[in-house]
Amino acid sequence: MTERTLAIIKPDAVRRNLTGEIITIITQAGFRIVGMKLLRMTKEQAENFYQVHRGRPFFEDLTRFMSSGPVVVMVLEKDHAVEDFRSLIGATDPAEALPGTIRHRFGTSKGENAIHGSDSVENALWEIAFFFSLTELVDHTS
Ligand code: RTP
Ligand code: MG
Repeated sequence: MTERTLAIIKPDAVRRNLTGEIITIITQAGFRIVGMKLLRMTKEQAENFYQVHRGRPFFEDLTRFMSSGPVVVMVLEKDHAVEDFRSLIGATDPAEALPGTIRHRFGTSKGENAIHGSDSVENALWEIAFFFSLTELVDHTS
């Protein structure tokens, strides 16, 4: 069933000019981009976005990193988008990510792992609404 997920090209990857290469990988894997923007999160926005991790030991580093530079936020559409995108990006720690995954190719550490993908359909809906209004999401069908 067609589904949507939220992707973020993280500050480390944008800083290294990997945006175009990563978008190519995503679209060649069959995801349609239905929303996209370049933005820089404030520390407070990053804390709100990752609020499920508040209290974890890595929360401060994570939110400082996610607000350290511009990111590219995308809404992606595909059958089974959430699960398939998690497979495409690979494990959180690039050292454990399978060859061919985006994190294996471009991630440099568990913190600086190049890309985010929603981890459930429910969280995808929440994350999409965090960054996009309905009028910013396009319909590709005629
Ligand atoms: P993401 O939300 O960014 O797509 O990553 P994920 O689902 O694979 O991992 P998650 O458990 O949601 O953690 C969110 C981000 O926090 C950083 N992290 N660092 N140092 C650590 O032990 C640690 N654990 C998590 C990572 O940048 C991870 O992507
Ligand atoms: Mg996560």
